[in-house]
Amino acid sequence: MINFQRVSCINGTVPLFPSLASAEELCSTCKFVEDGEERVVVGSLDLNQCLWLPDELTGKRPGVNESSHTRAYLSNVCVAKELQRNGLGYSLVDKSKKLAREWGITDLYVHVAINNEAAQKLYNKCGFVYESEEPAWKARFLGRPRRLLLWLDLKKDSLFKDEEDELGEILYG
Ligand SMILES: CC(C)(COP(=O)(O)OP(=O)(O)OC[C@H]1O[C@@H](n2cnc3c(N)ncnc32)[C@H](O)[C@@H]1OP(=O)(O)O)[C@@H](O)C(=O)NCCC(=O)NCCS
Repeated sequence: MINFQRVSCINGTVPLFPSLASAEELCSTCKFVEDGEERVVVGSLDLNQCLWLPDELTGKRPGVNESSHTRAYLSNVCVAKELQRNGLGYSLVDKSKKLAREWGITDLYVHVAINNEAAQKLYNKCGFVYESEEPAWKARFLGRPRRLLLWLDLKKDSLFKDEEDELGEILYG
């Protein structure tokens, strides 16, 4: 059974600035040293190129006759609570879109709990739209809130991006 093609973990890091040093839990688990500089991982997500994720709703796109290797899912999207609402979540998703395009992904998906308003707003801002939702019985069976499945058409998103880049060149070139 072929499912996973590849997975990449994208991390957001910042230098360990003084005000962050008080975030003990974050610093004890997420601190590292690079080129002699102390840095902290403050956000992360996984990009999974696969047909489906275990125990999650499966995306419909691209259709069955098309190459299924062009579907991917985001998972484990998180930003440290100390740095939320600073655009990090948006940047991580944006970075994952760029990598997904490099992998040839056309259809990007993410699952989000029905009561997670912050994450739903983040994904809407990033261009994701509703595709389907988990039945209540399944969520009860799995002992968690119901999930929505959100879809992003990376082909259209790329066109929009290209137009944005072109506009940027005209404005600033
Ligand atoms: C969801 C999460 C990743 C957002 O990360 P973030 O870095 O705070 O998000 P950003 O600062 O990039 O926000 C981007 C947009 O998301 C929305 N948003 C983010 N946090 C929000 C909140 N608490 N309330 C309402 N909207 C929110 C807003 O639309 C925001 O745009 P705006 O600032 O222009 O209004 C973060 O809250 C988190 O880690 N939550 C816990 C883990 C989680 O729920 N992960 C998602 C699993 S599906």
